[in-house]
Amino acid sequence: MTELTWDGKYKDGKKTAPIRIALPFQTIETVNESAADRERRLGSFLNQRQETEDVDWRNRLIWGDKKYVLPSLLAEFAGKVNLIYIDPPFNVGSDFSFTATIADNPETEEDETATFVKQPSIIEQKAYRDTWGKGLDSYLQWFYETVVLLRELLAEDGSIYVHLDWHVGHYAKAVLDEVFGYENFRNEIVWKRSAIATNVKTQYRNSHDVLLFYSKSNQNNFNVQYGEYSESSKSHYNKKDEKGYYRTVPLMASGRTNGVSGQPWRGVDVANRGKNGMHWLKSPDELERLDNEKLIYWNKEKIPELKYYLEEAKGVYVSDLWDDIVVINSMAIESVSYATQKPEALLQRIIKASSNEGDLIFDCFCGSGTTAATAEKLNRRWITCDLGRFAIHTSRKRFLGIPNVRPFIMQNLGKYERQQWIQAEFDNPQGRLQQEKAYKDFICDLYHAKSLDNGYAYIHGVKAGRMIHVGGVEAPITSEDIKKAILEFWQMVGKEKAVATNGIDFLGWDFAFDINETAAQVAESNKVNVKFKKIPREVLEKKAVEQGDIKFYELASLDIKAKTQKERLAVTLEKFIIPPDDVPEDVRESITHWSQWVDYWAVDWDYKDDTFHNQWQSYRTKQNPKIELTANNHYEKNGCYTVLVKVIDILGNDTTKVLRIEIKNGE
Ligand SMILES: C[S@@+](CC[C@H](N)C(=O)[O-])C[C@H]1O[C@@H](n2cnc3c(N)ncnc32)[C@H](O)[C@@H]1O
Repeated sequence: MTELTWDGKYKDGKKTAPIRIALPFQTIETVNESAADRERRLGSFLNQRQETEDVDWRNRLIWGDKKYVLPSLLAEFAGKVNLIYIDPPFNVGSDFSFTATIADNPETEEDETATFVKQPSIIEQKAYRDTWGKGLDSYLQWFYETVVLLRELLAEDGSIYVHLDWHVGHYAKAVLDEVFGYENFRNEIVWKRSAIATNVKTQYRNSHDVLLFYSKSNQNNFNVQYGEYSESSKSHYNKKDEKGYYRTVPLMASGRTNGVSGQPWRGVDVANRGKNGMHWLKSPDELERLDNEKLIYWNKEKIPELKYYLEEAKGVYVSDLWDDIVVINSMAIESVSYATQKPEALLQRIIKASSNEGDLIFDCFCGSGTTAATAEKLNRRWITCDLGRFAIHTSRKRFLGIPNVRPFIMQNLGKYERQQWIQAEFDNPQGRLQQEKAYKDFICDLYHAKSLDNGYAYIHGVKAGRMIHVGGVEAPITSEDIKKAILEFWQMVGKEKAVATNGIDFLGWDFAFDINETAAQVAESNKVNVKFKKIPREVLEKKAVEQGDIKFYELASLDIKAKTQKERLAVTLEKFIIPPDDVPEDVRESITHWSQWVDYWAVDWDYKDDTFHNQWQSYRTKQNPKIELTANNHYEKNGCYTVLVKVIDILGNDTTKVLRIEIKNGE
């Protein structure tokens, strides 16, 4: 068979295979989970009730690179996915920048809504280089590795639709033929979208995308889809009775027969009609019934014809040319302002044709969540992932906006991805301690700090008069770590070994939820100034590190007021300040009220030290850009509760804060 090759496809005579490291997923949030289900999932009812897959199923929104997500899904889902739709990045570059919106200052009357384009983070740029770094060669290798794993996820009767355009559609077709088999190619669908008016002086306008539709086998599940009749087809329905418009079709066909279908009916001698005689297409009984039900039209020559109503007509078979689905424009109701958002009508057609209710739908380039949102509305199960933080945030809001959305969970590969990275980067034959030391030195180096080798366990470096603590990859930095680091800080100062006395910078991947308050208390009572800085995910990427300046930003600070009255609790956001991240200076200046940074916030009223259970939320949408700043809850039982508040800023970053409250009903 003819084969497409590219630089990097073969190594030592063998095809370069995708990486297959399976990492466990971490659930970071549950959304819309009922209190009863939550209890049950915590284990208390497990022994009393036999679980079924249905009861336990949760749709999944995963934040991560498909490179790790796909192999990690295989163990559970190989052969189980009924339909895959992917809309991979192919329009070089535009995929990772997004337009962030700043809402009005709630305290002024003026319309200050503004937008700015957030440039891709280093990790997103890296993903872009993965795909396009060496041009088409790297793109094809990346695409090949993706579809090999996707094929393994598909059920035997499953299908995949790959959405591309003229840039790479033809190359991708050759790769898909190789992976799925030419015989499993079902259609090349042409979707007529907007007509981009570039290069029109030397060529025709580009106005369509292609969707390559393959099945895993020749047993693919397919539900015939019907489209609307054209005006000219509708004009054939030109007769009308009390049931509506209809057209007529013959009740007889050419050729004489000897049975009942050749006998005269109601005086019409069918055998003597036409050149060589004719016969009835229905039995005499059926003709009687149709006539009694007024479904027969007697034409001018007193010949019966069958009425065919426009209302009951299913429509025309949908072809592989889709020109009836309009592209999303910024004014469309379903628009969530995501540059590459596709219309739900497109996904509706695909999902209805190639899956049934309850089936599992997957999309590893979630973007604004169109596939999952449409699957949800059509009662299918779904899993979707994206590498972009903003894509995940946009999708979560979109799903929450679906009336009666079923509970879903948000996951990532968190610490497992980092452990994997430490093992790969700092493997040391001398043992784990050496490995850990190498890792901490590396982080100090990126932070431009000098690492220390003085036997202390909690102080790892020094920079500009401050001591440095580097958090491990396994667990968040906790108040215990802070206390111990402060102790060591004073021991060092006391022994005059101190090389820095201005305070401590804590560098961590994650921080315990209560870090801000604890830190303030502990630091104040110990007279140490502390700062918390997040180790950015970019650190995991060798190339991003080589490329230079990795920025460690301070955690955002969030002030919350809690007010209890009998069994009621009101939580109010009082202030929110985010670190200067990559928000352009002029945009920062245009923000005149702290709440303009808040895009979304959610509350878990009874946090149980497991996962954040999203039980209340307020967020801005295009249609309703206002956000509530107070959330109320009514507790059924007296007691002490831990309340967790999660705020997501307009760039998609989250900040959490914990409150402890006591409910004393009527006291
Ligand atoms: C063309 S957009 C998808 C748009 C989507 N169909 C919609 O309707 O909104 C492609 C998406 O792929 C994501 N992406 C690119 N490379 C990725 C990777 N390696 N892993 C996961 N997601 C990736 C981008 O962040 C982007 O959101």
